[in-house]
Amino acid sequence: MPAYAIIGGQWGDEGKGKVVDFLSEGAHIVARFSGGNNAGHTVVTDRGEFKFHLIPSGVLWPHVTGIIGNGVVVDPDALLEEISGLQAQSVDMSRLLVSDRAHVIMPYHVALDHLEEQARGEGAIGTTGKGIGPAYMDKAARVGIRMGDLLDEKGLLSSLGFILEQKNTLITRLYGGAPFSLEELYERCREWGRSLESFIRPAGPVLQEALAKKQRLLLEGAQGSMLDLDHGTYPYVTSSSSTIGGACTGLGISPKHIQEVIGIYKAYTTRVGSGALPTELKDEIGEAIRERAWEYGTTTGRPRRCGWFDAVAARYSATLNGMTSAVLTRLDVLDGFSPLKICVAYRLNGKVTDCFPGSASALEACEPVYEEFPGWDRPTAGARHISELPQGAVNFVRRIEELLGCPLSMVSTGPDREETIILKPIL
Ligand code: IMP
Repeated sequence: MPAYAIIGGQWGDEGKGKVVDFLSEGAHIVARFSGGNNAGHTVVTDRGEFKFHLIPSGVLWPHVTGIIGNGVVVDPDALLEEISGLQAQSVDMSRLLVSDRAHVIMPYHVALDHLEEQARGEGAIGTTGKGIGPAYMDKAARVGIRMGDLLDEKGLLSSLGFILEQKNTLITRLYGGAPFSLEELYERCREWGRSLESFIRPAGPVLQEALAKKQRLLLEGAQGSMLDLDHGTYPYVTSSSSTIGGACTGLGISPKHIQEVIGIYKAYTTRVGSGALPTELKDEIGEAIRERAWEYGTTTGRPRRCGWFDAVAARYSATLNGMTSAVLTRLDVLDGFSPLKICVAYRLNGKVTDCFPGSASALEACEPVYEEFPGWDRPTAGARHISELPQGAVNFVRRIEELLGCPLSMVSTGPDREETIILKPIL
């Protein structure tokens, strides 16, 4: 029966990959429900380092079926590259399934992502440039091509002819870009269909059957709650629902099956791209965190903006998602820093508030109100039990738990599976 959702509680890159991999040991299915190859996880196991963009990282376990759900947008070239890369690392890909309802990121989506960003000028969102926004726009406009359509060559030609005329008009007339050739694009789609045919299937029956058999499902979120199209820091967000509602629509399962919502939070904050970040450290501390934690995008290589833990944003996302527990990652990164800070409120227009504002301009005007903590004198790196943590680190972690308003189930103290403190077993 139960499904367990893993949701990013901040602006993405919280370390969901490690947690999903860790929890996958006790799961039958791991399913992605939103986003596309704008996401990036790195998972370290005793077999080496594995990079994921689209494929659920749970496939590293031989008993796990990986599902790319209907809510995901799929760049077929990126998917094929990831499949062959994992196969080269001896990961069995026969347990991967791609929903026939997932939308395809077409080459014109990637082109439009770049052209639209250029046109926005100073107001650019700082997208990953992977065509995510334009692909979701077409889904909502009902002119998207879905993975199942790649297997229907005749139908595909007629829809593609109609859509491409629109896209080429937009690309050439509005943006002065180069048009796409229908013949070339059609040929590419046919090749994608042939190469991916064995993976494309209706995912609904597989998920429903697993739920009926009371198998465990792990719902793997991408990005973070603060990048959610509806609830994030609009317009500086991604174009999908990265919060818990997206898990239901992005896979076609009922909320009644979701037993736990596990929020993943880093012990500090990072953000890539534009948009306000109240606790951003534009100084040597931010730089030191970035370098120590190697905070550079897995997908784009861009430096991530770093700042102190923002408990206003974190509590907002914990409440929004109804998080039943939270995981705190990368605590070890803070080893040696003193003092440490947690933002417990914002000062906005002279008033102190712990409400997360709805508008980008209000968030821009928020100044953080901090609580200070002395650092700790022993490293936390590699700790596997709470008793191994210095008292200063325990105080810091427990204060975050209190501010989140939900219990912490795990603390991660390093990239390896074993470098994990379990406070409350989840599965
Ligand atoms: P898009 O998803 O490429 O449209 O980008 C929209 C915003 O979301 C940009 O600020 C990106 O940097 C951010 N974003 C998208 N995916 C991720 C992610 O996986 N981690 C962190 N930021 C992301």
